[in-house]
Amino acid sequence: MGVNDSAVIAEGLRKRYRDGYALDGFDLTVPRGTVCGLLGPNGTGKTTAVRVLATLLRCDGGRAVVAGHDVIREPHRVRRRIGLVGQNPAVDEVLSGYRNLVMFGRLHRLGAREARVRASRMIERFDLGEAADRPVTTYSGGGCVVGWIWRWA
Ligand SMILES: Nc1ncnc2c1ncn2[C@@H]1O[C@H](COP(=O)(O)OP(=O)(O)O)[C@@H](O)[C@H]1O
Ligand SMILES: [Mg+2]
Repeated sequence: MGVNDSAVIAEGLRKRYRDGYALDGFDLTVPRGTVCGLLGPNGTGKTTAVRVLATLLRCDGGRAVVAGHDVIREPHRVRRRIGLVGQNPAVDEVLSGYRNLVMFGRLHRLGAREARVRASRMIERFDLGEAADRPVTTYSGGGCVVGWIWRWA
């Protein structure tokens, strides 16, 4: 499987914290268009791996290619291609789903009008019209989906 068939390729990733290796030869291949779950007991390096793949943390060894770009050499290109929702979703719970989408659009430097158009398009595409104008506090799961559907725009 080549770079173009894979959403994620990690080979021999290593990350050392003061107390030892959180990752010591982490390998992972995720084919495009698939859903991948990373499971394991607490403290086994899942968050560290995700942070390295999302370019939030620099690894000490090995290599990783995400969406066709090397996470060390082209972190800005990786960031343009991915979305990441943390354990605590970074959405404004007082705002509606629609307003959150517009806000994310603005944070991605879209103009006000373009951000509104894209937000409406996303809501339609995911058939979320019923929820769009409700505050995010009324959603289950803290409205995580609002954060990550943006990247499909
Ligand atoms: N910022 C940090 N500084 C020092 N040690 C850390 C840090 N983050 C995680 N660790 C350690 O690295 C190991 C893996 O942590 P983590 O990636 O959070 O695992 P998981 O997400 O699987 O629970 C743990 O032993 C944890 O204590
Ligand atoms: Mg974790």
